[in-house]
Amino acid sequence: MQATYLKSVDQRQYWAPHVHNDLAHQDWSVTDIRAQIDLEAWQRYLIDIPRDPYVNQRWKRMAWLHMTDEGDIAVMGECPMAQGGKFNDAESMADKLRYYPELEQSFMARSDVKAFVKAWTELWGIGPNEPILMQITGVKGTEKLDPLQGQGIHADGCQCLSILVLSRENVRGADSYLYADKAGEQLLTRQVLEPGNILHLYDDRLFHGADSLEQEDPTAPYERFIIIINSRFVDSFQNRMLRRHFPHAVLNDID
Ligand SMILES: [Fe+2]
Repeated sequence: MQATYLKSVDQRQYWAPHVHNDLAHQDWSVTDIRAQIDLEAWQRYLIDIPRDPYVNQRWKRMAWLHMTDEGDIAVMGECPMAQGGKFNDAESMADKLRYYPELEQSFMARSDVKAFVKAWTELWGIGPNEPILMQITGVKGTEKLDPLQGQGIHADGCQCLSILVLSRENVRGADSYLYADKAGEQLLTRQVLEPGNILHLYDDRLFHGADSLEQEDPTAPYERFIIIINSRFVDSFQNRMLRRHFPHAVLNDID
């Protein structure tokens, strides 16, 4: 089953032509990749995902990946997430080292996962040995939601950022939005991303966020999970950690 994905997906056509144009002209793009990935198979990895120890009601795994000199996608090893306060206003996360369980080996071994990451490096022009952070994160539960959840307008502290929606069940809201400014005066787009939709953006040029979400049916479980994939960090705190853990990595803008 998996092999058919690699065979059927021509890397040059992985992204719809409008994606390249959108990124060149407006610094962001939304497209659908349900034909390129086995979304149902990816969703099975949400069942055992561990809790985020730093943020209430969130679940997360992550891995640092790179393209090898041979052009394969490989896991680099452990390095904490390190977002400086300049990029993350949340007290639970800013200026802290955060460690998470790795993405599962069987997930990283999937041909459609490797094809996705490879196509992502090609879209952004990421070269061999540049660290790429891939996270699966989201919310799920049956209990009443924390009314304060939702992220304010922020940047992740990198240049190349994409957000792929994996699941959205019994959820109202959680609109994704982009602004040209951190104050939130120049709205560029606001839309509900459905599973299989991916938003690409230049994170050092735009600001993003997602609205809080509500349960459509308060008696039923809800969930919303995304994949966040990013590279070329402009956050010096993160770059220092990357240099310490991956001495031979190709880094962006190191201090
Ligand atoms: Fe973000």
